[in-house]
Amino acid sequence: MGKKIFSGVQPTGNLHLGNYIGAIKNFVDLQNETDNQCIFCVVDLHAITVKQDPNELKKNIRETTAAFLASGIKPEQSIIFNQSLVPAHAEGSWILACVARMGWLNRMTQFKEKAGKDKEKASVGLYIYPVLMAADILLYDATHVPVGEDQKQHLELSRDIAQKFNSDFNSLNFLKVPEPLIQKSFSRIMSLKDGRKKMSKSDPSDLSRINLKDGKDEIVNKIKKAKTDNDPMPASDDKLNERPEIENLLGIYSSLSNQNLKSTINDFSGKNFSDFKSKLAEIIVEKISPISDEIRRLEQDPKFIDDILKSGSKKAEKIAKLKVEELKKIVGF
Ligand code: AMP
Ligand code: TRP
Repeated sequence: MGKKIFSGVQPTGNLHLGNYIGAIKNFVDLQNETDNQCIFCVVDLHAITVKQDPNELKKNIRETTAAFLASGIKPEQSIIFNQSLVPAHAEGSWILACVARMGWLNRMTQFKEKAGKDKEKASVGLYIYPVLMAADILLYDATHVPVGEDQKQHLELSRDIAQKFNSDFNSLNFLKVPEPLIQKSFSRIMSLKDGRKKMSKSDPSDLSRINLKDGKDEIVNKIKKAKTDNDPMPASDDKLNERPEIENLLGIYSSLSNQNLKSTINDFSGKNFSDFKSKLAEIIVEKISPISDEIRRLEQDPKFIDDILKSGSKKAEKIAKLKVEELKKIVGF
């Protein structure tokens, strides 16, 4: 039997190379494995846990959908939809919020990072964000959830919620306990300006990331300016973790060229940084530019994108609605 795959990406703009390598590229590989059933969701309900400009949000929902399509996710093969079109997500998440414990949510490191120093001012939605994520996954009986390393803790919470619900309501196996699918290597792409910080949509410096919509010149320029150090190109991966910027750039090259880190190190050992950087820019341009061109092309036709979301939502709704109805019966409604 194939896997039931569910994953989501927030429509918050600036989709970047980290989202591509850590998540979307794997979505496409999983879709192309035989017998898998894949559902990819633009999680707009999650996006509003921090303030969004309504017009920007609308644009970003389309842009994220366009990025899915441009990267190779096919609506004939996979379900592509946005969360807010399927009310079962909000409904299911309320029931699960009554199963999840405060103590569990208090441990979530992403909330702490996102809420920053002034937790009192964070939205309640941001706090229960992982419960909505659990509903996303559990309503579809997903067996596997491809995500980047940063989502591992949220996935563990989804597993805990599923298990507690099943045991509280004596409904063994009703909610399926999902497995995370996190790549062994290159699951955390770092900022081009600081190898200790994750590449992120919200970094104020655009030079810290390669956006999926960057043009060729921007890519070349950002790689040229990417932080390195004064030591030569490494000859082995020994102590490479002490040079996080170099490790990250070598990782990006390896991932996009589908080779392991050791082979990349061998290819460039003894060469200049400038040679490596120009090869790196070349491969990013080769892999990202076609996606970027296709995103721009698709964005010219918002109706086409909206229709894909609408028809995906109908398919998703069929599955999620049934599950929520059973969920309601089990809790006694
Ligand atoms: P988000 O943009 O936060 O909705 O993330 C969408 C997906 O991209 C999730 O699976 C994240 O784990 C993944 N992701 C985000 N940033 C990175 C990064 N810097 N490196 C690897 N994966 C990432
Ligand atoms: N929280 C995820 C992120 O920020 C996005 C997400 C929402 C998700 N629901 C999901 C990912 C369900 C996997 C499965 O990256």
